[in-house]
Amino acid sequence: MNLDALTYAGSMENLRDLADESRHLFVKGDICDAELVRKLLIEHKIDTVVHFAAETHVDRSILGPAPFIQTNVTGTFTLLEAARQVWGKNRSGKRFHHVSTDEVFGSLSLQDDAFTESTPYDPHSPYSASKAASDHLVRSYFHTYDLPVTITNCSNNYGPYQFPEKLIPLTILNALRGRSLPVYGDGMQIRDWLYVQDHCEAVRLVIENGRLGETYNVGGNNQSHNIGLVRKICQVLDELHPASRSYLSLITHVPDRPGHDRRYAMDIKKIHAELGWSPKHDLESGLRETIRWYLDNPEWVKNFLAQNEYDEWLDLNYSDRGAQ
Ligand code: DAU
Repeated sequence: MNLDALTYAGSMENLRDLADESRHLFVKGDICDAELVRKLLIEHKIDTVVHFAAETHVDRSILGPAPFIQTNVTGTFTLLEAARQVWGKNRSGKRFHHVSTDEVFGSLSLQDDAFTESTPYDPHSPYSASKAASDHLVRSYFHTYDLPVTITNCSNNYGPYQFPEKLIPLTILNALRGRSLPVYGDGMQIRDWLYVQDHCEAVRLVIENGRLGETYNVGGNNQSHNIGLVRKICQVLDELHPASRSYLSLITHVPDRPGHDRRYAMDIKKIHAELGWSPKHDLESGLRETIRWYLDNPEWVKNFLAQNEYDEWLDLNYSDRGAQ
């Protein structure tokens, strides 16, 4: 069962491959709706909750933090409470898995070691603060109520179907539309890129075999600075979909994001040692697959952009930065 409020970044288009899948049930609804969540858990005898639902875009959290507190904090609390009440003491075979982010750990300098599961929390944006709060709530339900929980903290996801507000799909679609490619500040910030399918496989392993009450870091082992990544996207596009001049000419440095974290990197030894997981995609192959997917799905792009007031978002976030 897939419970989704279908807010701006969601779409039934993303589920089109599941239209004839009898094992999949879609419910449009809000994780903050306690009655609905309780009802679904009871009626469908749900034994495993995988909590992916969140407001996730840092720039949106800077311009309007309220939905982040509502969905990420209140929504997580609502799901936890429903699971606690419905499952009661009958916890055998039950699992509440919470999907979180490396951003809860704050920012690294170039010399720092990668984040481990015991790195102290130090969130810097309303988004990461709301995710940190949700992680704390999940752990508190394990210690206080014995709720069978696990948590994964992942690095930057990318791949097909990603809403084009995040750096990689934004760069691909802006390039294809001949718009400038906005790079915040000097572009030397570093992220660790995780292909979405690798992430899903890690989540599945943790649900099946992860130890209760434990947190697992999930990273791509693919650190890149932003400017290098944007250039790489341009080079792949120049090869796969050449325009009259190189896409590199569209790169524009724009004013930085407030509170911008310099570097994230994940130490993934624990999930590798305990569950045998490591990412299968390197950035080169994952990026090519992703760019290919956006090129091969112009209908998805067209429909999705049209129905989600996408250009309004570009105006809101980028016009003051001088990027169009
Ligand atoms: O690290 C995991 C996190 O990755 C997730 O928890 C977040 O939900 C997800 O949004 C992502 O956060 P980032 O802020 O790192 O992702 P974003 O794609 O927004 O930005 C990646 C980097 O690129 C970051 O250093 C900011 C920069 N950037 C981003 C945009 C949208 C630009 O230079 N220009 C842009 O237009």
